[in-house]
Amino acid sequence: TTPTPQWRPVYHFTAPKNWLNDPNGLIYLDGVYHLYYQHNPYENKWGHMSWGHATSKDLLHWKHLPIAIPEIERADTTTWIFSGSAVEDKKNTSGFGKNGKAPVVAIYTADQPKQQKESQFIAYSNDGGLTYTNYAGNPVVDVHKKDFRDPNVIWLEDKGYWLMTVALPTEHKVQFYKSSNLKEWELLSEFGNQGDTRKIWECPSLTPLYVDGDPSKKKWLLMLSSGNQDAGTGLQYFIGDFDGKTFTNANSPETQLFVDYGHTFYAAIPYNNLPAGQQMMIGWLMPFETPTYPWRGQMSIARDLALKSTQEGVRLYQQPAAVIRPLLDKLPASKKFIKQGVVVKDKLLLNAFKSNASWIKATFTPGTGEEFGFILAGTTVGYNVKNSELFIRHISGDVEKVKVQSVKSLEILLDKSSLEVFANDGEKVLTTLVFPEKNNTELAVFGNVVVDKLSVWDLQ
Ligand code: FRU
Repeated sequence: TTPTPQWRPVYHFTAPKNWLNDPNGLIYLDGVYHLYYQHNPYENKWGHMSWGHATSKDLLHWKHLPIAIPEIERADTTTWIFSGSAVEDKKNTSGFGKNGKAPVVAIYTADQPKQQKESQFIAYSNDGGLTYTNYAGNPVVDVHKKDFRDPNVIWLEDKGYWLMTVALPTEHKVQFYKSSNLKEWELLSEFGNQGDTRKIWECPSLTPLYVDGDPSKKKWLLMLSSGNQDAGTGLQYFIGDFDGKTFTNANSPETQLFVDYGHTFYAAIPYNNLPAGQQMMIGWLMPFETPTYPWRGQMSIARDLALKSTQEGVRLYQQPAAVIRPLLDKLPASKKFIKQGVVVKDKLLLNAFKSNASWIKATFTPGTGEEFGFILAGTTVGYNVKNSELFIRHISGDVEKVKVQSVKSLEILLDKSSLEVFANDGEKVLTTLVFPEKNNTELAVFGNVVVDKLSVWDLQ
């Protein structure tokens, strides 16, 4: 309960106060990015789950808004508002619209702990997503189970219906449902018991993407959260085809693919309703370690999603959202350090910035050393040439790592207590949390390397 301002991120989202977990209902409406999130309005720990709410025009500056969907307390039942999604019902298929204005509809899991039950509810908004009214006919999907959650809904333009992807966590399955009005849902198919089944499956989403940006090569990205610190990774994905009814995995059932190889990235879902061509997600950085106060939990940077052909097949690439980049360029000269051909022997201190809120981009010509990379507030982010491993070495000595054939570029986002590392323009990603001492603000390049281009932006 000692305040920890030194660990509150400045360009990653945190609740003004108290606990936060999964991003919910990510939706772009009239030039504004909405972020709803799992929130405990009363305590700095999980509980009283409600949908907190914030909006942003640039994905860096967020405006805090009142709770959008609060828990429902009745004598016999408590209903917690678990994770879900939001859609703009442009054709008013639900009939919830008013005065010719499209309603925003939230589709979420109603968790009823006393009844040990989870079912899917909907709620609608006629004020652009600020306040919601729960539908009188809830639940809209109920299979009478304790674990059945996290509906993610998209509009299938070519089919003309809504598609819901929802998890049966303990059965390692997702189900697909369709609807013409968001109220009545019909089961289409199930997919599961493939990939990584070490942990329960939560927060699924299905997203169409063009491979290598080519509209004639559409594939579907099925992401889902499964795992925690023991499992090592949190978010896995499958690539495949979807015919409007069934998802077919393009890889063998044994293939395990992960969105992020750090211990922290979880419950990410894509944005709905984005302008054509933009595909983006936000994830939650699970606060396993040191408790922060008076807030706990933060979101990742918004990440663009892309599918690329590789030697192993089609794979997911992620980069910090392109819409953020112009903001970096606009920073004043005193907040930027941009240099070409930086020759590093052993260690080069970058003393200009001491805020622990930096955004770094570097392209390398590897030299003779075994390891090269950055030291950020005591944590080492580097590439081990001999083992072909991208790694984060914590002050404690703990290491998070992933195999990468060679590292030519690194993009590193350090924001007080979060660290996101993108290698080779998003080929592999490692995300973690760090809790440096207040006076530990060292920023350095290490190794025997040439940094062909080094850019550091100070976002304090
Ligand atoms: C994932 C999760 C979801 C659930 C929510 C509850 O972190 O467990 O499955 O809807 O959190 O807060």
